Order: sequence, then C-alpha cells, then structure tokens
Amino acid sequence: MRKHEVVVVGAGLAGQRAALAAIEAGREVAIVTKLHPLRSHSGAAQGGINAAVGADDSVDTHIYDTVKGSDYLGDQDAIEFFCKSAGPTVIEMEHFGTIFSRGADGSLARRAFGGAGFPRTIYAADRTGLALLQGLWERLGSERFTMYEEWELAKLVVRDGRVQGLIALDRRRGEFEGIAARSIVVATGPSGRVYGRTTNAHSCAGDGVSVAYEAGAFLKDMEFVQFHPTALLESSILITEGARGEGGILKNAAGERFMSKYAPHALELASRDVVSRSIVTEVREGRGFSGPYGGYVHLELMHLGKEKVESRLQEICDYSRLFAGIDPVTQPIPVYPAQHYMMGGVGTDIHGATNIAGLFAAGEAACVSVHGANRLGGNSLLDTLVFGKEAGIAAAEFAAKASTPELTAADVTEATAPYRAWSSRTDGEDPSALRKEMQQTMDRYAGIYRTESDLAEGLKRIRAVKKRFERVRVVDQSKVFNLNLTDAIETGEMIELAEVILVGAYARTESRGAHFRVDYPKRDDARWMKHTLAQMGPEGPTLSYSPVAFTRWEAKERVY
Ligand code: FUM
Repeated sequence: MRKHEVVVVGAGLAGQRAALAAIEAGREVAIVTKLHPLRSHSGAAQGGINAAVGADDSVDTHIYDTVKGSDYLGDQDAIEFFCKSAGPTVIEMEHFGTIFSRGADGSLARRAFGGAGFPRTIYAADRTGLALLQGLWERLGSERFTMYEEWELAKLVVRDGRVQGLIALDRRRGEFEGIAARSIVVATGPSGRVYGRTTNAHSCAGDGVSVAYEAGAFLKDMEFVQFHPTALLESSILITEGARGEGGILKNAAGERFMSKYAPHALELASRDVVSRSIVTEVREGRGFSGPYGGYVHLELMHLGKEKVESRLQEICDYSRLFAGIDPVTQPIPVYPAQHYMMGGVGTDIHGATNIAGLFAAGEAACVSVHGANRLGGNSLLDTLVFGKEAGIAAAEFAAKASTPELTAADVTEATAPYRAWSSRTDGEDPSALRKEMQQTMDRYAGIYRTESDLAEGLKRIRAVKKRFERVRVVDQSKVFNLNLTDAIETGEMIELAEVILVGAYARTESRGAHFRVDYPKRDDARWMKHTLAQMGPEGPTLSYSPVAFTRWEAKERVY
C-alpha cells in the first residue's frame, strides 16, 4: 500500500500552497491531482487578487468591504485574519516569481473591483490566476515531493475517528489504488459544473467536497452560489470584472446604463450579487436583447480605447473574438450572468481543520467562512493562498503527531465495489444524460431568483435523478482514460451537492447575498444570521446551524 505523511488532493493554488507549507514544516508530502498543476482552474481566474498594500489604502477598509460584501454572514475573526494576511501573501508570491502588472512609477498596479471601497485588486493583465500558478509551481518544483498526476479522488477512508487514507483512480492505467495518509488536505477547487450555465471548466466537479461529505464532513453554507454578472453569451466564458474595473459599462437594449437604477453610487462596481440580479431583472422585464441563446445585455469597452483594452484585457479580447465573433475594441460584448463560485464548501476553521480528525480543506472546496453569502471579486485567489498555507501547516502538525494510518486492500475492494457494478451492467442509465438533467434542473430551479415552489420542484427533480443514478451504467470497458467512468463518478458526486444546495436554499427563508428568495425578499437577521451545516444522512442531507462570528462590525443594510 502506498503511504505518505501528508497527502494534498488538488494541485491548483490552494493545493500547491498547502503542499509547500507542509514540506516547509518538515513533512513528507504527496499531491494527488487529476490535472497538471498549470491546467488547474486557478489559472482561469482573470481579474486579480485583493490586498491593501499602498499607504493610500487600509487593511480595515478591506476587512469592512469583505464583511459588507458577505452580507454579514462572513465570520469576522476569519475575515480579519484573511485581510491582514493579504499584503504579505502578495509580496511572497512576487518573491516566488509572479510577474504582476505595474503602474507608471513601477509600483504594483491596482484596479477597481466590485464591492470594494478602494481600487485594491492587484493583477497581471487579465491572467492573474495563471501568473500566480506559474510562480507557485516554480517555487514548489524546487522541493521534493511525490506527484500522482492524472489521479482522481474517489473515496476517503475514515475509521477510528480519524482519516486513514484515500482511494483514487489512476486514469492512465484505469486502476483504483489506496494511499494511506496521516493527514489529508482537500483542495479540489470548484463545484460549478453542478450547473450548466457556468464559468467553471468541465473539470470543476466538486470531487473533494462531495467525497468529504460522504465521509462525514459537514458542508457549510452550500445554498450560497455566486453568479458572475458578465459571462460571455452562449459559452459562459468569464469576462472579468476587471473589464468593469477598467471602466467598462453595462447597457440594456434601450441604450440605458441601467446600473444607475440599482446601485446609484457603485454602478457597475456594486457587488456581484447586486449586478447579476440587475441584469436578470432588465432581461426579465423586457429591456434586454434577445437571441438564440436567450436574453442578454451589453458590456461596452469601446470608449476605453484600443490601447487600454488590448493591453489590460488581452484574454477578454481573445475570447470575445474567438468565441463570440465580436471585437470589444469596436463592438459591445453580449453578456449574461452564469454560475461562477461556491461560497459554501467543506466547513473548516481558519487552519483548514474539518470535523474529521486529520482531514483539512482549503480554497474553493472549503468554507472558512470569509465570503459569507457573497464573495467579493479578487478575494478568491487570496483565499486559496492564505488558507492553503494554513491548511498545509495544520496538516503537517497533525501528521507529526498522528499514529500510522491503517488502510488495507479490503478498503479498496469495498470502496470500489459500486464502480465494478456500474461497469458490469448490461442495461442502465447514461451518466452524461443524468449530468445534463441535473445541470438543467439547477439552472432552472436554483438560480439567481429563487422561490419555494421552484426549489421544491428542483429538489423533487434532483431526487429523481439521484434515484436513476442508482442504475448508472458505464458502457466503456477500456482502462486507459475511461471518461465514461470518470463522468459517472463525478456525476454521482455532483448530484449529492445539488441536493445539498437545494435543501439549504429551501430551508433559508430570507434573502442574503447571492441567495435571493422572491418570496422572502428581506434579510432576516433575527432568524437567519447563522451558517447552514449539512451532513449526509440516510435520506439525504440533514441540516443544523452554527453562529456567525462578530468582532467589530454590526450588521446593517447593505447598499452600493
Ligand atoms: O471577474 C473576475 O476576474 C473574477 C475574479 C474572481 O472571481 O475573483
């Protein structure tokens, strides 16, 4: 049986940062990842990373903006720690080799981002995630560790009150293998493919979140799903908030700059939940454009000039030209909101610890919670690095004291029995059809505007898909890169997450941040100033609640 002290699952920014921290703490480390580190979804993050670095900005303002952006659901002790760590984190990444864009005086360039009281988003053109990934990968690459690349997490083994190891599929050989570990960090990134209309890559299947849930971990605040206001029509490719930060404006079909009605001060740079709802309202009320891919509005950059658009927003130019056939230098970009980020995830403390001894989580797979009900743009890259490091340190400390884990061949046989059953069926359900049905259900019934009847209908449909999944069939019998099998594994995992999102959203009879209930349009602090915790039960998720931590800021109405 393979054995390591610390195993990190996922090789995006959070996973790499956790691995580096655990190595620096003196532990022997392995990384299990289904993607090459530079192909991780962290590389898709465009606009930037928030840090109050100049004498003209303050950490307290960053803290306040994050607390307010979270609609007061973020834990303020965690937010304080997070924002105080931001400056040192950015400087560390620069020392690791990340090349950030510069101002005329050579200082770190900063741009405005949504929901921020000050332009504090540091960037590398519109490829900030990729620039950070490259810097961190170069730094990590100078260390000694074991890499399981193209290995996909399938199960966690928890026994005697602690994690013992994991079972993963080596996709190149088509073999499931056990890896014993004293401690494990889940850093598998987003779950956005639960939805059909999403900025997330196909790989963002919530693997680690679902596997941790199945192993007994609490999932926190899963009903809070962020929709990015500006996804390119049809493909839903992200059009960075940096485009609005650089001065881009939104217009409806009547040529009106409609954000002045919804957020008279911040306009296009109100927080994402506010801008997304405004766009959907414009379209629903007949003031949007319409076409074969549904309603949309225009994002205009033309007034910024060719030089600025092509230098600061290079990827946006490429994506618009390649995927929508329009040139943003001279034409408006057709945009509509799409799922972008899960505020919820595996519940952790600020050191990444979950309710399972030896199991840690970080990055988008985790919920600390600093983003509460709505994450600010630019706080996600920061989250991966700050809490990736914390989780790596804590996992290393745990591993240093833990006894030898016990993982046996019988564990692997037992955990993989369902997969063998899927492959031996001669009749059954096609996983890709179930995936599509799940995605369409979530798009339709668990979107930006939610109602009791929609959520109930969505839940009924997802439970029907879950029932059908019991008869899932893997037709492809090949061993090498069997995408039919990985599709089935991921679809089963995402159906579980879809159910948790719906159950939490149905129960939360208020509107807060990204969770907007048309039937309960007000925030209800008296009843709902609390985190949702979901644990897997025999009949689906069982919910409980935990308090929100307050330090210096009282909850008040959020206006932009
Ligand atoms: O719009 C963006 O560039 C996205 C950034 C983020 O989600 O933090």
